[in-house]
Amino acid sequence: MPFIEMRGITKVYPNGVMANHQVNFEVEAGEIHALVGENGAGKTTLMKILYGMERPNAGEIRIRGVPVQIRSPFDAIRLGIGMVHQNLMLIPEFTVAENILLGVEPHRWGLWDRSATLQTVRSLAERYGLSIDPEARVADLPVGVRQRVEIIKVLHRGVDLIILDEPTALLTPQETQELFRTIRELVKQGKTVILITHKLREVKAISDRITVMRHGRIVGTLPTAEASEEELAAWMIGRRALPTLKRPPARRGPCILRVENLSYIDEGGRAILREVSFEVHSGEILGIAGVEGNGQSELVEILAGLRQPTAGEIWLDGERLPAGTPRRIRSMGIAHIPEDRLRNGVALPLSIAENLIADRYFEAPFSRSGWLNPGAIRRYAEDLIRAFDIRAPDPEVPAEALSGGNLQRVILARELSRRPRLLLAAQPTRGLDVGATEAVHHFLWEQRSNGAAVLLVSADLSELISLSDRLAVMHDGEIVAIFPEPQRLSEEEIGLYMLGLRRQPLEREEGS
Ligand SMILES: Nc1ncnc2c1ncn2[C@@H]1O[C@H](COP(=O)(O)OP(=O)(O)OP(=O)(O)O)[C@@H](O)[C@H]1O
Ligand SMILES: [Mg+2]
Repeated sequence: MPFIEMRGITKVYPNGVMANHQVNFEVEAGEIHALVGENGAGKTTLMKILYGMERPNAGEIRIRGVPVQIRSPFDAIRLGIGMVHQNLMLIPEFTVAENILLGVEPHRWGLWDRSATLQTVRSLAERYGLSIDPEARVADLPVGVRQRVEIIKVLHRGVDLIILDEPTALLTPQETQELFRTIRELVKQGKTVILITHKLREVKAISDRITVMRHGRIVGTLPTAEASEEELAAWMIGRRALPTLKRPPARRGPCILRVENLSYIDEGGRAILREVSFEVHSGEILGIAGVEGNGQSELVEILAGLRQPTAGEIWLDGERLPAGTPRRIRSMGIAHIPEDRLRNGVALPLSIAENLIADRYFEAPFSRSGWLNPGAIRRYAEDLIRAFDIRAPDPEVPAEALSGGNLQRVILARELSRRPRLLLAAQPTRGLDVGATEAVHHFLWEQRSNGAAVLLVSADLSELISLSDRLAVMHDGEIVAIFPEPQRLSEEEIGLYMLGLRRQPLEREEGS
């Protein structure tokens, strides 16, 4: 008898979207079950139903053969089901321990028992090899560590089944390896894991069985050992094998962005960037590789006007870029696909259309003598929704009604439709399915063919190698190497530079 059975689950959202259609889904106790499918296929919805966050319109859930009603996450947790969300949901101002114990603090004479709390958190962390400091403030922690906090929080509730919704989308390869060790440990200790991910390589590496969803339905479930990556991709997108992309030839033009001796010291006095210098030319993609937390994110944020550098100069088209607000920087032809898209990219309660014009609503034709023009806005939004294949019923729906991947597309559409001189792309394919990732690669190449200079930061080395015309590697705030022909390098070799085990002497003057 399966551990979890979901039978005939149908879910129609109030806006009429049928996110799940007659879904039958089974999970065995003790397995790692991967749930895959395109953006908007209905994976998160199905798991939210299992976790009691959404009510299905029809269908039944059984646990070990017994029909259950799951009306809220409290019900789910009581039944042994926990979930770590696609968008982490911790309270940044609270400490790790406070977040973990939110709502379930052990009370002694009605008071919060601080030492007992810290003790519990420490022992859980130790048991599952999840190293964290219970007294750290969540806001100060990198994403990988925040996720550990979420996992411990779920474990602390004493669940048997843990649902992880795209847990690796925000992680570096190293953090992903750590997470996988944790997942294996969980299973060894008798837990069951459902894992949603778009990375088929990961699915192959970690899962026991795979279920594929498409357009709200289950395509099938099969043992991982019997599935090839090509076959899975074909199941997901409903056609045979993806065409292999050919790199269009580069036409490198004049220098667009020149960064000279850029340094950045953060509020805590730590040197985040150390005299970083490089150029990006028109018609070229400069990739930046590095283990997360080595200065790449701050570099992009400085270039986008979101942070002020401590020292150094930035030149755009031969002119010194003044310190400026993001809006001013954008008006100079710089587009930015931010890494933390939920914080810097979208306004969740606003509609898709409003998000699409967020940076240009004050321009014609969207605004005329101070009045917004709804017709023009709607037509423009509809065009972008079509061009970027954003799966949404209507431009008026709020951004929060979109699936994770479709939310990404809204930001991509806004930024890539600007025809920028310089495009700053931070982790542009994070959270995207196979097809959408391919589409983004096309868009980046298109910008490059249009003569834009593209700066690409990605945690996905194979993506960097295939897209970049030149590849820089950052370690500890410095650029330790710039390679002219990344396609000739192996991931392992780049890894040595990323870890700071090797560096290139940079005496050669760069550029043409
Ligand atoms: N709260 C909501 N209100 C209305 N529609 C929604 C809501 N949440 C999701 N949807 C829609 O339901 C469909 C399935 O979304 P879901 O989030 O389950 O997809 P997903 O498979 O998790 O995709 P992704 O890989 O992009 O995260 C999508 O068309 C989405 O727009
Ligand atoms: Mg999702």
